[in-house]
Amino acid sequence: GTSASSTNHTKYKEIISTLPRIEGRWRQSLQLHEYQGFWFGQNILEGIMSAQEHLKAQPTDIFICSHPKSGTTWLKALSFAILTRKRFSYSSTNPLLSELPHDVMPFIDISAFTDITSRDPELPLLSTHMPYTSLPKSIVEGKCKIIYICRDPKDLFISLWHFTSKLRGTSAETFPLEEACQKFCEGLHNYGPYWDHVLGYWKASLQFPERMLFIKYEDLQNDTFSYVKRMAEFMGCPFSMEEERQGLVQKVVDLCSFEILSNLEVNKSKKHSSAARQYLKIEKRAFFRKGKVGDWENYLTAEMAATIDQITEQKFCGSGLSF
Ligand code: A3P
Repeated sequence: GTSASSTNHTKYKEIISTLPRIEGRWRQSLQLHEYQGFWFGQNILEGIMSAQEHLKAQPTDIFICSHPKSGTTWLKALSFAILTRKRFSYSSTNPLLSELPHDVMPFIDISAFTDITSRDPELPLLSTHMPYTSLPKSIVEGKCKIIYICRDPKDLFISLWHFTSKLRGTSAETFPLEEACQKFCEGLHNYGPYWDHVLGYWKASLQFPERMLFIKYEDLQNDTFSYVKRMAEFMGCPFSMEEERQGLVQKVVDLCSFEILSNLEVNKSKKHSSAARQYLKIEKRAFFRKGKVGDWENYLTAEMAATIDQITEQKFCGSGLSF
């Protein structure tokens, strides 16, 4: 009830006030708090603590996990299109044609209660940006399936820089690239450090390959068709021979392509996303920028790129992971 949740609210606030804190420069007056090895803004951290305490994931739940700006929107669209292909086919009734992909499944970091109680009983999908080691116990112990997407840290950084400028409502240059790059390298942003986020899921995917599908944005771009088939198998609904003959795999690929999604009226909208309603005042269209691999080359100096690459090498050294 309301009083219980406001008690929790106070409780989380008190815990948060004892955590290491730093001024984040990505958004005006955004303070970051260090919790379980990662940095979070206050709102998100309260939501995470609440999910950690209360979320009761079902073993059949499938989690779409990512660090922000890794390709979450795309992965959500793909997983939704795959799982609902019998229900909606590819006609005008498909929710992906009228809703932002973020709005077709719950996002547990912020609104575990409200979203989950109002969720579609036929859709096992849920989403989170939480680091692996911070996931609510019921997800890990319930052996829920997880699909994780990540991306070259240089592209992720450029995507994040543009996105946060839209959050601030000022031009990207008001937070100079060089300063932003430094903060990014220090892990000082929501859900940072990025490398640790990726590593957490990577290690888990090696340990539990049957319940984790680890995807790189670059690989997904390179061969979306194969990944759609793999995702379907992984989620327990492989495409039948008949469906393949009907071209359904390609239909999913096409429906979720950057070109199609970014040109839908709903996704060109200046309206705010409802999934993000409580903490992110951001236009829906902000989730679609370029959708390309390697856009960092248009922004980063050789020095900035080298700094990021160096950290990537150091952090991923011996892990079997590279970009
Ligand atoms: P860019 O800023 O490099 O263009 P997230 O969804 O995790 O917020 O990540 C956003 C990034 O994914 C943005 O990258 C965005 O353009 C890209 N993106 C969104 N939809 C996409 C799609 N359907 N296919 C490929 N990339 C997509």
